[in-house]
Amino acid sequence: MSDDMQLLIDLHLRNVRQGPGSDSATEMALALAEVQAQAGLQVADIGCGTGAATFCLARHLGGMVTAVDFLPDFLTELNKRAERLGLAEQIRTVEASMDALPFEDASFDVIWSEGAIYNMGFADGLKAWRRFLKPGGVLAVSELTWLTEQRPEPLTRHWNDAYPEVATAGQKIRDMETAGYAPIGYFPLGTESWMDTYYRPLQQSFADFLDRHDHSEQAKALVNAEQAEIALYETYSDYVSYGFYVARRLPD
Ligand SMILES: C[S@@+](CC[C@H](N)C(=O)[O-])C[C@H]1O[C@@H](n2cnc3c(N)ncnc32)[C@H](O)[C@@H]1O
Repeated sequence: MSDDMQLLIDLHLRNVRQGPGSDSATEMALALAEVQAQAGLQVADIGCGTGAATFCLARHLGGMVTAVDFLPDFLTELNKRAERLGLAEQIRTVEASMDALPFEDASFDVIWSEGAIYNMGFADGLKAWRRFLKPGGVLAVSELTWLTEQRPEPLTRHWNDAYPEVATAGQKIRDMETAGYAPIGYFPLGTESWMDTYYRPLQQSFADFLDRHDHSEQAKALVNAEQAEIALYETYSDYVSYGFYVARRLPD
């Protein structure tokens, strides 16, 4: 693994979340999904990081949550936290890439993924994961979304370069329909899901992170890149957020 990747893991490992989101947003998506809690429920959390959403799902849904990530350090941390929270019995971790999931068809009642599907692309992810859902099962994913049709040019240019699939909710919902899902609902994450639960704690961790790495040029460059991303978000939060999308798998 590259030094840059190791640094990125070290920066994010200690935090509650590795991307925008919050328990209240997860709960709102659960309310939209109207999944009834039950012991036998099979849930997957793909790109789980250290498990913020995994724990929320386990608490609210009962059942078994399969937490998937391709970074073993995050999964080790997730398992430690699950023990501390008394949720270990309900959670199993699977180290796998989201584009090669090792599951049987129709394994899950619910597939969840917060801030992660972009790693394989929204449309490709929807298509690839569909077969792992039982017909009628629920998919809930958060994804970078334009909040407005018209936007400042520098913002549009930045995200079109960094993630060309960025689009409005209308387009994302259309993508779900095309991929064989019936959309149930969408809502944009509020600024608290970016600032209070993700960016502020991250900023508070920069000093210790730089100390751990003797203020190396690489570590400073990573912190500067994160600060630039935060500044971009703060400047343009009226125009861009993550959208939470909830849909049901249609039968074949
Ligand atoms: C922005 S973080 C979100 C983590 C977590 N869902 C949260 O909201 O805190 C994206 C996660 O996707 C994982 N990831 C990235 N590419 C992946 C891949 N190809 N397969 C599985 N996980 C991946 C990363 O390791 C990371 O944990």
